[in-house]
Amino acid sequence: MPGIPLRNGGPAARIAVIPGDGIGREVTPQAVKVIRAATALTKRPIEFVEFDWGADKYLREGISLPPGAVEMLRDEFDAILFGALGDPRVPSNQHAADILLGLRFKLDLYVNARPVELLHDRLTPLRDRTEKDIRLMVFRENTEGLYVGVGGFFKKGTADEIAVQEDVNSRKGVERIIRYAFEYARQNGLKRVCMSDKSNAMTFAHDLWQRVFKTVRQEYADIDSRHLYIDTLAMEIVRDPRQFDVIVTCNLFGDIISDLGAQLAGGLGLAPSANIHPGKTSLFEPVHGSAPNIAGKGIANPLGSVLASAMMLEYLGWKPEAGALRNAVRAALRQNYVTPDLGGDKRCWHFYLRFTNCVIIMPSRNPPMCAHQATPPEALVPSALIPARNCRRNQYPRMMTAGIGIRKTNTSVRTRARGYSSMYAPMTPEIAPLAPSAGTVELRLKRTWSKPAPSPQTR
Ligand code: NAD
Ligand code: IPM
Ligand code: MN
Repeated sequence: MPGIPLRNGGPAARIAVIPGDGIGREVTPQAVKVIRAATALTKRPIEFVEFDWGADKYLREGISLPPGAVEMLRDEFDAILFGALGDPRVPSNQHAADILLGLRFKLDLYVNARPVELLHDRLTPLRDRTEKDIRLMVFRENTEGLYVGVGGFFKKGTADEIAVQEDVNSRKGVERIIRYAFEYARQNGLKRVCMSDKSNAMTFAHDLWQRVFKTVRQEYADIDSRHLYIDTLAMEIVRDPRQFDVIVTCNLFGDIISDLGAQLAGGLGLAPSANIHPGKTSLFEPVHGSAPNIAGKGIANPLGSVLASAMMLEYLGWKPEAGALRNAVRAALRQNYVTPDLGGDKRCWHFYLRFTNCVIIMPSRNPPMCAHQATPPEALVPSALIPARNCRRNQYPRMMTAGIGIRKTNTSVRTRARGYSSMYAPMTPEIAPLAPSAGTVELRLKRTWSKPAPSPQTR
C-alpha cells in the first residue's frame, strides 16, 4: 500500500532490531539480510543494532523492557524492526505486554497500519476474488482501548470473583486515529473510509467514537465515509472486500479484523504492519506472533517481516529499496517460491538467497551450486557464499579451486566450471532498477554432461 509517512527522509538510518521469541528469531534475521542487500546496492548507510529482549532474557534476568530503553530508542534510532513475542514458558505474556505494548504506548505509536493486499490471485480463500478486489488498509488505534491494562480482580480465586478490564477511550486519541485515516485516504486518492465500532452495545466508549466520527467526517466531504458495526464489518469484508479502501477502528477490533484480513490475502505469514507516530521513531513488525507450533523448524514464512521492512524503508523515505523488497516478494509469489504455509517447499532462508542471487560454491571439490537449487545452507561453509556482485576473477581462490572461471560485466557474470556450461544470466528484474551497473546477477549453472564416461574397467 502506498503513502506511509516519512520519518525524516534522511540519507542514513539506524535501526533497532528486536527479534523476540519463536519464529520472530527466524524471520527477522532474514529480513535484515534482505534490507542490507537492497541498501548495499544503492549505497545507503544503514546500521542495525540488535537487542535480545524476549522470553529468554525475561526468564533468566527478570528483565523485559530494560530501564532507559524507551528513551534510547526514541533518541538514537530512526526505526525498530520487531519480530514477535510470546513463549509458552511465560503464560502471563507479561514480557510481551511490557515490551511490545510498552513500546506502542510509551513511544505513542498511535497508528497501527495493517495493509490487506492480495499479492497473487491463488492466495485468497475467497472464490472468484482477484488481486484487484482485495486491497485495503486497516488503521487500528494503538495506544488506548481495552489494551491499557486498567482493571483488576476482586475476590480473586473465590466463587464470588469479579474481574474488570476497562475500555479507555480519550477524545484526543479517538480523533487523531480517525483523522489519520481520512488524511491517508485523501493523500492516496482513496475514496472510501469505514469506521467500525460496537456502539449499539458499548454505549459509552463507542458513543464517543460515533460522535467524533460524525464531527471529523464533515471536514472530508470529498471522501465517502460510512459506519459499520464490527460484527457486520467482519461479515462484509468476507462477502465482498471490494467495498473497502480504508477501515479505522479501535485497538481490539483492529487486532481481530487484521488477522481476518490477513487470511483473505494469503495468511499470517504474509501480513505486515507498521506502528507509527508520524515523524518519530516507529516500529515495524509482521502481524503474526511467535508461532510456537512451528518455531525452530525453519519453515516460518519470512515474507511478512520482509513486507514490514518495506514499510519501514518507505517510512525512512527510501522508496526504491522499499519497492525492490515488494517486487521481490511479488516475484517469489508468482513463481511459487514459498514456504509450506503457502503450499511450497522453501525454507525461511531461501527468500534471501533468491533475493541476493548468491553464487554458492560448495566447499572442497564439489561442483558449484546455484542458489536456486535447494541446498540447505548449513551444508555450506560461510565463505562459500559469495554475492554475485562481488565476483571478480582471482578474488576467491576457493572458486578457482572448485574449477570455476568468472568474468564479470556490468549486467552479467560468465562462469566456466568443469562439468558445467558457461552462460550469461540476466539481472533479476526486481533488483535491476536498484543497481543498473552493479553487476548483481542471477547465476544459473547447467550441467553439460548427462552420463559419466565409462571407466576402463567396465569397458
Ligand atoms: P501466531 O500468529 O503466532 O500463529 C497463528 C498460526 O499462524 C499458527 O498456526 C502459526 O504456525 C501460523 N503462522 C504465524 N506466522 C507464520 C509464519 N510467518 N509462517 C508460517 N506460519 C505462520 O498466533 P498464536 O499462535 O495465537 O500466538 C502465539 C504466541 O504469539 C502467543 O504468545 C501470542 O500472544 C503471541 N503473539 C505475538 C504477536 C506479536 O508479537 N506481535 C502477535 C500475535 C501473537
Ligand atoms: C498483535 C498481537 C498483540 C496485540 C498481542 C501479542 C498483545 O496480537 O500485534 O496483533 O494484540 O496487539
Ligand atoms: Mn494480533
